[in-house]
Amino acid sequence: MTTALEPKADTLTLPPTDHHPRPYHGPSRAEVLAMRKEYCNPAIFAYYKEPLMIVEGYMQYLYDETGRRYLDMLAGIVTVSCGHCHPKVTAKIKEQTDTLQHATTIYLHPGLPALAKKLASKMPKGLDTTYFVNSGSEANDLAIQMARLFTGNADVIAVRNSYHGASPSSNTLTSHSTWKYPVNVASGVHHTVCPDPYRSPFTGTPEEIATKSVADLKDLIRFSTSGKVAAFIAEPIQGVGGTTHGAKNYLREAYAVVREHGGLCIADEVQTGFGRTGDHYWGFENFDVVPDMVVMAKGIGNGVPLAAVTTRKEIAQALTERIHFNTFGGNPVCMAAGLAVLDVIDEDGLQENSRVVGKRLKDGLKKLQSEHELIGDIRGMGLMLGAELVRDRKTKEPAKAETLQILEEARAMGVLMGKGGIDGNVLRIKPPMCITAEDADYTLEVMHRALQATESS
Ligand SMILES: Cc1ncc(COP(=O)(O)O)c(C=O)c1O
Repeated sequence: MTTALEPKADTLTLPPTDHHPRPYHGPSRAEVLAMRKEYCNPAIFAYYKEPLMIVEGYMQYLYDETGRRYLDMLAGIVTVSCGHCHPKVTAKIKEQTDTLQHATTIYLHPGLPALAKKLASKMPKGLDTTYFVNSGSEANDLAIQMARLFTGNADVIAVRNSYHGASPSSNTLTSHSTWKYPVNVASGVHHTVCPDPYRSPFTGTPEEIATKSVADLKDLIRFSTSGKVAAFIAEPIQGVGGTTHGAKNYLREAYAVVREHGGLCIADEVQTGFGRTGDHYWGFENFDVVPDMVVMAKGIGNGVPLAAVTTRKEIAQALTERIHFNTFGGNPVCMAAGLAVLDVIDEDGLQENSRVVGKRLKDGLKKLQSEHELIGDIRGMGLMLGAELVRDRKTKEPAKAETLQILEEARAMGVLMGKGGIDGNVLRIKPPMCITAEDADYTLEVMHRALQATESS
């Protein structure tokens, strides 16, 4: 059922829902904005010229304080996998919160090994040992720590245009000047060329570009390291970087080179995991590789702070050299959420939905590309999609202001999208995996109108 408060542009109306938002009685949007300005670190930033206040969520929809509904095509930055406040997930969280909220891993609790076991059942054979933490940054820090301890090597290679976190050490892996602080000096971290063909310094087919990118990786090892490396870390599809990835042969060839030099291969599945890419449960499976470690966060918790590193037992063993502890790692409420999320992904068929609805969206985006000069490239798999906007298809000048305008126009029509890429010119479309074909069609129509409005302004 739609309400009078819902967005209407010409005949455009959001697909119907049975959910009725509760009346909101909290502080006004202006008060919240003022409080944020006065008391919060100015580094936190908000989208939109007039920041949006969100007070309720249900499945693929978000509601502002007036009860206006929005279709969430960004999923809390690729985090809400099952849907906002998915009833099964919230029921399990409530049940656990009422029973035991916290005790730490110094005592036994069934939740922690149960989730570790469940994750092992989703992984390739041998990847069966998990450590839980709270965020993707922390999980990447831990993975690098374990790789260095296990191999006895220090050098780590990440891929340019990657995002691996904001903690001082994961920030050294991140490869965007816009996200890197000058004080987080990368010790032993090197960045190899990004294999994505759209902005590659190399020419040729995507497969040739992938092979040339791997040659750069070989050179990097040869010239910048002792020849021995601890790890190679890569997102199968770069998320913050703007949904960028190499051809299918890239990871396979890169993993082989890294292993020749004694390194472990880490797949950062923080955005690509849990069925989002559609054809596979894990992003790395799209590239026919088996990593030595898998880093997870975001979608594993559907909104609760939960992250993990899964690896082989002998690699995990390296951490026992000293005492290691994480206060909230393995928290029973987060474990309950994680278990429920994994069940819901299977029960609700969310991987298959990502495949089917993702294809519909991608086909639609390709069609939009044929109609709108502004769209330079369409990328991604399943429900992890990106549209790179350029002012000129030949020069590929990033259309930064236009991207912002499209986000504003789409918001006015009730659709929330994200932006990414080092120039902020890639529209990021990564909704909760429960969106429907109608939601996809609505988004495409909104994008068409937003592009039209932007191109004619
Ligand atoms: C691929 C990837 N890895 C790691 C992180 C860091 O996760 P967190 O923000 O939970 O620390 C992110 C966050 O966006 C990410 O996209």
